[in-house]
Amino acid sequence: SSDPLVIFTPSGKRGHFPVGTPILTAARQLGVDLDSVCGGRGICSKCQITPSYGEFSKHGVTVAQDALSEWNSVEQRYQDKRGLIDGRRLGCQAAVQGDVVIDVPPESQVHRQVVRKAASSRNIVMDPATHLYFVEVQEPDMHEPTGDLERLERALQDQWGIEHITADLTVLTRLQPVLRKGQWQVTVALHKSHKDTCHKVVEIWPGLTEDRIYGLAIDLGSTTIAAHLCDLRNGEVKASSGVMNPQIRFGEDLMSRVSYAMMNPGGDKEMTTAVRTAINGLTEAISTEAGIRPFQILETVFVCNPVMHHLLLGIDPVELGQAPFALTTSESLAMNARDLDLNVMNENAQVYILPCIAGHVGADAAAVALAEEPGKSEDLVLVVDVGTNAEILLGNKERVLACSSPTGPAFEGAQISSGQRAAPGAIERIEIDPVTKEPRFRVIGSDTWSDEDGFEHVIATTGISGICGSGIIEAVAEMRMAGLLDPSGLIGSAEKTGTERCIPEGRTHAYVIHDARADGGPLISVTQGDIRAIQLAKSALYAGARLLMDEMNVETVDRVVLAGAFGAHISNKHAMVLGMIPDAPLDKVTSAGNAAGTGARIALCNVGSRREIETTVGEITKVETAIEPRFQEHFINASAIPHATDPFPELSK
Ligand code: FES
Repeated sequence: SSDPLVIFTPSGKRGHFPVGTPILTAARQLGVDLDSVCGGRGICSKCQITPSYGEFSKHGVTVAQDALSEWNSVEQRYQDKRGLIDGRRLGCQAAVQGDVVIDVPPESQVHRQVVRKAASSRNIVMDPATHLYFVEVQEPDMHEPTGDLERLERALQDQWGIEHITADLTVLTRLQPVLRKGQWQVTVALHKSHKDTCHKVVEIWPGLTEDRIYGLAIDLGSTTIAAHLCDLRNGEVKASSGVMNPQIRFGEDLMSRVSYAMMNPGGDKEMTTAVRTAINGLTEAISTEAGIRPFQILETVFVCNPVMHHLLLGIDPVELGQAPFALTTSESLAMNARDLDLNVMNENAQVYILPCIAGHVGADAAAVALAEEPGKSEDLVLVVDVGTNAEILLGNKERVLACSSPTGPAFEGAQISSGQRAAPGAIERIEIDPVTKEPRFRVIGSDTWSDEDGFEHVIATTGISGICGSGIIEAVAEMRMAGLLDPSGLIGSAEKTGTERCIPEGRTHAYVIHDARADGGPLISVTQGDIRAIQLAKSALYAGARLLMDEMNVETVDRVVLAGAFGAHISNKHAMVLGMIPDAPLDKVTSAGNAAGTGARIALCNVGSRREIETTVGEITKVETAIEPRFQEHFINASAIPHATDPFPELSK
């Protein structure tokens, strides 16, 4: 062809286009990922590109200085008003003149990759369900009696190729004033579900909006509610925050909440109101932290265990308290925020709740499966998501099993005498010298220094308020390694252990980590009761993992992924010393942070992943722990530290 050649980087896509073709048009025809909100009107600047001028023989093309058209008046106007970064052009205005290489910077890509911080796995490809579109709507006309919504629909069809739209009453009531205020130019946020052909109008602004749109990924746990606020354009996490689940006052674990609902008429409603109120508070707080207005939140994804799931939805969880543990529905769910009384975020925000696997294995386990993808693993991987209820997955490409185990809230710092949520002031890591029995620790939110082993130590010793989940796991394991605890979990006396830090506590003993009572501060210690709570929790976790291994007919696993909503991460060594997880080579035990929260983020940022997890969930075999006699057997044997009978050869290496 004699038409000029256009090559896009980084995609490498190329094609010949007649002189005068706008770069945005060329990109569209080649399927190059180049963003646009205003549809090529030169006002949104999302289409920015960088032509490689003055370079010769790039990609086999000789690029001439005038390979692109001169700045036209639209582009010049943008440049004068806002200013483009040096070397950048507006892709919708700059047109092809000669052979040219065009680079699409990451900000101009819709489907840019969001790089995850957690080491273990997948990055997120941006493909959210909600997008912004700028449109010019035809003014009404006496001779052509159509409604404003129908003309908006026509405009979206003509200018963006969008076929059907729907709008709720809350949008309809604002449609006419907004259209007129914007002088028939508006920006609409359209939500397209993966299950629907229709686009739903979620929000509408006059003119081209300067507002960004956001989504919340919420991991609704029994003890902690954790949320990530994400920019829906680029997936960036603007803020992460958490609050205690106020339902704790109705019962610390799930079964006691189910009993509360059974024993007290209206008890389920009370718990529903409590959790919704807490989510509204969290929405407010996280928006403030990120410096956005809550109504800019247009989407929310929830992951939660089945009991939380039902209580969030306002469904009495009574059936989940007794065999056969029937869910109202295990399907994924979609609704408006206002249906759940979530009225701090945009009331039209679209809520998506991941599917549940079974009566005891919830959407949180599905989210972990989405984040860690055990079903794509070549080797046999055990994924444990540690919380008040542990979600456990074991599998590989052939088969994935899942169960949930009632560990109780000890791993989240609850039911622990000095326990607290992972927040500033909490001890999150600890080391006990095996000779002197003196502790050194790191506190969230303090200045720290690292020793040669990379272990960080706190400098400030004030403002310490308690121990969080990861801290208590390390504390118990360190106490065992320093000989302060025997294998049955009994704390020794000062005489026996040789340290004054072991003080009497009733008829048992406690180990003092930090004593600031002289300055009016707290006494932070690990008591015998704390050790028992951790033993119960870790036995339940281990027994669940073992049950899946029995079911899979294996004695060992190839690797272990440790996840949990608390603290920075769980130390692999300490988890194994404690016997939380089965024996495995230490370098095959990795930490994934809050995998359920990550799964929620993936579902928020990539609408295709919703279909993926809906399919995956159907392929997971769930194993019921509650009615399995072997679970009890495994549970009792797992009480010793690390274990009464199972060998831990990797620990002695
Ligand atoms: Fe909006 Fe180019 S597409 S400025």
